[in-house]
Amino acid sequence: MTTCGGAAQSQQRKRGGSSLLEFVPSSPDGRLGRQASTRRHALPNGLCAPQRLSRWTIGRRFRALTPRSKRSTPPAFLLRAASSEESIAVMSNGLPGNMAAEVAAAVLRRGHTLVPYSLTGPGVTRADYTLEVPTEGSNRAATSLSVQLVKPAERDARMADILRQYPALICVDYTHPSAVNVNAEFYQRHRLDFVMGTTGGDRERLLQSTRASGVYAVIAPNMAKQIVAFQAMIDILGREFPGCFAGYRLQVSESHQATKADTSGTAKAVVAAMVQRLGVTGVRDERDIERVREPDEQVRRFGVPREHLQGHAFHTYRLVSPDESVAFEFQHNVCGRRVYADGTVDAVEFVHRQRGKQAPTRVYDMMDVLRSGKMQ
Ligand SMILES: NC(=O)c1ccc[n+]([C@@H]2O[C@H](COP(=O)([O-])OP(=O)(O)OC[C@H]3O[C@@H](n4cnc5c(N)ncnc54)[C@H](OP(=O)(O)O)[C@@H]3O)[C@@H](O)[C@H]2O)c1
Repeated sequence: MTTCGGAAQSQQRKRGGSSLLEFVPSSPDGRLGRQASTRRHALPNGLCAPQRLSRWTIGRRFRALTPRSKRSTPPAFLLRAASSEESIAVMSNGLPGNMAAEVAAAVLRRGHTLVPYSLTGPGVTRADYTLEVPTEGSNRAATSLSVQLVKPAERDARMADILRQYPALICVDYTHPSAVNVNAEFYQRHRLDFVMGTTGGDRERLLQSTRASGVYAVIAPNMAKQIVAFQAMIDILGREFPGCFAGYRLQVSESHQATKADTSGTAKAVVAAMVQRLGVTGVRDERDIERVREPDEQVRRFGVPREHLQGHAFHTYRLVSPDESVAFEFQHNVCGRRVYADGTVDAVEFVHRQRGKQAPTRVYDMMDVLRSGKMQ
């Protein structure tokens, strides 16, 4: 179950500032507000709000954690909090995996509610996962949250109970390529809107079954919105100025953690766009994309910080003119996984808005999220 950091945290709560005891009094002497604020700190389901959460977040989280049937009229300070922007209940599936953990942290950072259950893999033996939520600022202790891991064999039986607690939850999937279709069909069967970040699987079947099911979904193999925008830029460049790079030779190199066996899917997509849209030469297929996996070379040639050798995605695309007198170089260098998690939460918010207005289109990709212009 959830722990809330014990003595260090209660000390901090007393310090005021943006602590949890700061609240908007809803009675003239402030008593009701203070009591309510203290009580709400132990949130339903044992989830504790991270320390830096403001009264706004507590109010929004309170609403999302409380089943609709059990909601009574919230105290005034909660109503005020809920009026600005809604908290979304997000189920991050794939814990204890890297991306699912990163998404869980991003969900909390953005003031949404993390559903304390996660669909996990068949090989996972542990029953729960403790998420350490680092708080920003120097004098702040970390908060930990416990998430129950739901194994494939029990997921159908347990989903009804999870949905009773979080009727409007949105699932995020960062699991395994082999689980893409099975998981998507699980979401569809249970009428769960979802964001699919997991790569691989049968993509055509994924799109078709999701469209047929009528749930809302964002499906995208790359959730880093700036990289998706960069890919779109290549597309636009080719359409607006056809042939302006004709004859230029393309050289591509990518560096990822040593455990990544395949060629970067992003590099392959960008190369395809450059070849098709810009008419460049030099790269016939993925064998012409240089893969760098040796750590010393990654530091020396690409400047990868040593602390990110285990999780980075550096890409360089070099375009050289036929007479070699002109060279262009594009790079996108990502350390860690946060950029994907932030884009994922943008996608979750997008799904939430689309279903809120009952948009007729229900299946989207990251370009739709980008075009909506509502990202953080
Ligand atoms: N869209 C994007 O922007 C983006 C960004 C980064 C990564 N990705 C993709 O996201 C996926 C996950 O990456 P990762 O780095 O987080 O991998 P990871 O660290 O290996 O985590 C995957 C987790 O999913 C679990 N899992 C396996 N089958 C499952 C199932 N049927 N249901 C639920 N969970 C299951 C695994 O458990 P086991 O140990 O039992 O296998 C593991 O804990 C990959 O496909 C990766 O390419 C996409």
